[in-house]
Amino acid sequence: MAKYQNEINKRRTFAIISHPDAGKTTLTEKFLLYGGAIQLAGSVKGKKTAKHAVSDWMEIEKQRGISVTSSVMQFNYDGYCINILDTPGHQDFSEDTYRTLMAADSAVMVIDASKGVENQTRKLFKVCTMRGIPIFTFINKMDREARNPFDLLEQIEEELGIDTFPVNWPIGSGKEFKGVFNRQNREVIAFTANNGQREVEATEIDLNAGNLKDVLGDELYQNLMDDVELLDGAGAEFDQETVNKGKLTPVFFGSALTNFGVEPFLEDFLKMTTSPLARSTKDDVVDPFDDNFSAFVFKIQANMNKAHRDRIAFMRICSGKFEKGMDVLHVQGNKKMKLSQPQQMMAQEREIVDEAYAGDIIGVFDPGIFSIGDTVCSPNMKIEFEGIPTFAPEHFARIAQKDTLKRKQFVKGTSQIAQEGAIQIFQELGGGMEEVIVGVVGVLQFEVLEYRLKNEYNVEIRREGLPYQFIRWIENKDIDPKKLNLTSDTKRIQDLKGNHLLLFTNSWGIQWALDHNEGLILSEFSKN
Ligand code: G4P
Repeated sequence: MAKYQNEINKRRTFAIISHPDAGKTTLTEKFLLYGGAIQLAGSVKGKKTAKHAVSDWMEIEKQRGISVTSSVMQFNYDGYCINILDTPGHQDFSEDTYRTLMAADSAVMVIDASKGVENQTRKLFKVCTMRGIPIFTFINKMDREARNPFDLLEQIEEELGIDTFPVNWPIGSGKEFKGVFNRQNREVIAFTANNGQREVEATEIDLNAGNLKDVLGDELYQNLMDDVELLDGAGAEFDQETVNKGKLTPVFFGSALTNFGVEPFLEDFLKMTTSPLARSTKDDVVDPFDDNFSAFVFKIQANMNKAHRDRIAFMRICSGKFEKGMDVLHVQGNKKMKLSQPQQMMAQEREIVDEAYAGDIIGVFDPGIFSIGDTVCSPNMKIEFEGIPTFAPEHFARIAQKDTLKRKQFVKGTSQIAQEGAIQIFQELGGGMEEVIVGVVGVLQFEVLEYRLKNEYNVEIRREGLPYQFIRWIENKDIDPKKLNLTSDTKRIQDLKGNHLLLFTNSWGIQWALDHNEGLILSEFSKN
């Protein structure tokens, strides 16, 4: 048996993805409540903080010296050690949100039952699919008027291209939401409203029990019987293997706010999801149960404290055990080092950790040596994890320093901030660094950039928004971008590594480029 078998086996590390307002924070909070990590609903921040105006947000960042969006919440439940990765979704939606998904072993997709699949969910889902991790669906807000559950499933299948398997089925919706039918044990769980506290009064009744009709009322009872017949007749079989590959999503219905169906979801989900997965390196895979410690950096958080330009590097442990003060090798820097002040985030509190295992996330003090995707491991291992892709930014601006004498600071500042992964910088083909094109995933990053250049590097910038909406990397290394046949509003640019890219104002332009340049391969992610 591997040395850390038990610890690693009980770990479940997942991200919750959703469009803003679908109920991610509420669901997370209920999970923490079940795990005993918090005592009262309403104590998880996140949304409230994210709703602040930009200036407030900056203030918070400054005061705390670290982003208010915590990175991971760890708690224990039913013998499992659970790590929930936060995927900031409101104004602070950024490339970090995508990168966080690189650290997860599975994802929970929360969907608002009255709205169905929404934009941000689509984007995050795409990244999960790219990784092929299992995806679980929680259709939330069943206590409000909801769309027909069959229509919701159809939308998920058609729009996201994943098969669905309803694990439970809702009985009514809105004020008439009475509970869920568990398809596996053929039981109805009927709930009684309870103001959203932890203890929810639930009665379990067998589908064939004589009193079910009395509990549900004639109409809901009949609807349920019809739905069950339909599901049993037409639905796909549950297949764990297909779930593991991310091709079939188990679907649960419920209401996070009123606590209907949250605990049954958590219990089933924990059984169906996976313990820490093996991770690919440049030429092999690392087994999580390997006794050696290994981890990769997936996020770097700059400290907004002007006096100290220190940062926190967040690492996902991929194998073995981390112990405070242990010697590790930073592979990219080819340096042995001790990770100082390892921290773990517990809800909103930061704690120093003494030990952590594969599946866990730690944040370590970074004097400026780490880059996103870097590997840290036991010195005898010498492995290098596959890098983290660069994701397509969606907003673009041209920036230049106001004072031309500040060129050095401008170049240093933009390059460093880009290295942290908050922004991406591009140049005109053959252009220099006096004027650069900045691409960001979330518009707030523009403000952060401006603020940080001014405060940390003492450079003021001019910023001009650009009308581009889509960016694509040219995969063909042998193509001269100048020779491509493109629409007049398509722009040719390069990144700092010399890769060629195209900027488009609309999706039609992308299709035009593909249609008029035989063999052209455009990609939405750059594997670097
Ligand atoms: P997010 O993190 O995905 O952005 O969503 P969040 O949990 O913050 O929920 C967004 C809004 O939806 C909140 O209302 C929340 O109370 C509500 N909500 C979440 N789950 C449910 C549910 O199951 N049923 C119903 N009816 N509402 C739900 P808010 O008014 O915007 O905020 P608050 O003042 O209640 O905190």
